[in-house]
Amino acid sequence: MSITSVLSISHLTVKFGGLTALDDVFLDIAPNTIVGLIGPNGAGKTTIFNSISGLVAPTSGDIAIQGKEMKWPASHELASMGISRTLQGVGLFSGLTVIENVMMGADHTSGSNFFKDLLGLSGRAEAKLRRRAIDALAWAGALDLAAKMPGELTYPESKRVSVARALVSNPRLLLLDEPAAGLGQDEIDKFAALLLQLKQRCAIVIVEHHVDFIGAISDQVYVLNFGKVIASGTFDTVKRDPAVLAAYLGTTQQSGSEKLGDQSA
Ligand SMILES: Nc1ncnc2c1ncn2[C@@H]1O[C@H](COP(=O)(O)OP(=O)(O)OP(=O)(O)O)[C@@H](O)[C@H]1O
Ligand SMILES: [Mg+2]
Repeated sequence: MSITSVLSISHLTVKFGGLTALDDVFLDIAPNTIVGLIGPNGAGKTTIFNSISGLVAPTSGDIAIQGKEMKWPASHELASMGISRTLQGVGLFSGLTVIENVMMGADHTSGSNFFKDLLGLSGRAEAKLRRRAIDALAWAGALDLAAKMPGELTYPESKRVSVARALVSNPRLLLLDEPAAGLGQDEIDKFAALLLQLKQRCAIVIVEHHVDFIGAISDQVYVLNFGKVIASGTFDTVKRDPAVLAAYLGTTQQSGSEKLGDQSA
């Protein structure tokens, strides 16, 4: 019995001039799972997202979406392939309400100018899009924020809105780059609970430096170092992997275990 992967990557290599940012990377995302991508600064995590989302042209490598081998997608093709990502930081439009910002996350098939599309939408199409935005806001735990302006939001609230905006295109796969950055522990816990709900709806890949957070929510973890996958598996497995401990610390095994939240070491 095989479950078709939402996304599968193999032999992904990305070179920037003389720098090899990714080297023979593999990644396999099963439906309705949370996959954590961790690794030190500069390990290549964001470059994986950029390759998937058409912002970086891979030097070599293969990608399959829903089990089908494809060309690497261009950024305007992502939504139609069921993939959505949040931008690093928040990036909401300050002159639009929250719900309008979320409506902007929808795929207007042509991939063209939203404002033109919005003006061109019939009343019925706009009402339908508004309902989808409300649904996305509800999933992101941000429905009560719909009428606010971005400037009125707290930082954690704006993070939720950016998740809602990524959800409005009904993705099968959501890519989150450091969604917990800048959040306090309470907010991280709430965000973790939100993501565990959200995986009923789509698979999620998360790049994060908060390793405990990744450990608490991920079904699978990939550890990158200097552009290579040095370990993959459950968090409990990878956090004991000597290569991971070495990458994470550069110091002693003891402090590496602590950093990876392993109380038993
Ligand atoms: N567009 C680019 N042009 C040239 N070099 C790049 C580009 N994007 C990334 N790099 C380099 O590729 C390597 C991997 O970068 P990447 O941003 O993927 O790391 P990361 O794991 O996301 O790091 P961080 O945790 O700091 O966000 C780094 O050495 C980076 O400087
Ligand atoms: Mg990064």
